[in-house]
Amino acid sequence: MTKNGAYGFAQGGILWYNEMNIALLRQGIGGGNKAMRMRKKKNLQPRMESCRDCWIREPEAMRGRWRELYPQAERLEVELGCGKGRFTVGTAQAEPDVLLIAVEKVPDAMVVAMERAMDAGLKNVFFVDGDAALLPDMFASGEVDRLYINFCDPWPKSNQKKRRLTHGNFLKQYRRVLADGGQIHFKTDNDKLFAWSVEEIPQFGFQLSEVTTDLHKDGPVGVMTDYERKFFNEGKNINRCVATMVDWTEPETACWRSSLTGDRATSVVSGKASPSTRRVTEISWSS
Ligand SMILES: C[S@@+](CC[C@H](N)C(=O)[O-])C[C@H]1O[C@@H](n2cnc3c(N)ncnc32)[C@H](O)[C@@H]1O
Repeated sequence: MTKNGAYGFAQGGILWYNEMNIALLRQGIGGGNKAMRMRKKKNLQPRMESCRDCWIREPEAMRGRWRELYPQAERLEVELGCGKGRFTVGTAQAEPDVLLIAVEKVPDAMVVAMERAMDAGLKNVFFVDGDAALLPDMFASGEVDRLYINFCDPWPKSNQKKRRLTHGNFLKQYRRVLADGGQIHFKTDNDKLFAWSVEEIPQFGFQLSEVTTDLHKDGPVGVMTDYERKFFNEGKNINRCVATMVDWTEPETACWRSSLTGDRATSVVSGKASPSTRRVTEISWSS
């Protein structure tokens, strides 16, 4: 990747995004201003450098070639928003036949995860300092077998919903990198986010299974994340589901202009079989 390539470049301790990223962020699938400017801690760079063996600085150069990093891998899995990496390291240790790539947009958190992976001597886990919105730039079509979304930011206000990692705009990006039958494994402590997500996810061609609102009710299950361990110790219920990608065609969109106001309306039409089964599910207006 060039210095001012798809993942932005550091200048004066600030990470700037290029025009392509800004366009994506404007579509509502990025993290807004916070993602565009990340102030780095003073000692961050040397700490990152000391983890160079597991830090992938040019992820788009690996697109379609990730398995070369660990040829014995039976599956390639990607964790979105790994934070400080308890789950990342625990999963890589528990599953030596898996190549795990952790994507995290805050380097100050990711460096802790990388240090943990280095201390554990793991060879099957690598880290990308990047944004989940840009997965198709990093991974080729069908390259990823499983995505993990663990305790993502809930973005509770209605006008923030496009930032949720389970929003349809993100789900469409995930479809572009997942293999046939690929899965998303989703866990959250946030009951409202979970209720919203189990409505949202199937609308984008995923079949839900293993849906539970109390994963650990009979005792701890699976590898816990840092957030999960904290919530579990507080007695908070943990929600989990698995979403398996199935065949899906994006509903048609139609545009027309009002003869009175000149405004443009965009509608999403679902049910393509015959005009009688078509249904307008969403209309937005712009001038
Ligand atoms: C609430 S923390 C959870 C961290 C970890 N998964 C855990 O459960 O302990 C959410 C993490 O996701 C990261 N994150 C949020 N949006 C992201 C995005 N679009 N791309 C990559 N990372 C993101 C945040 O920086 C943060 O570290």
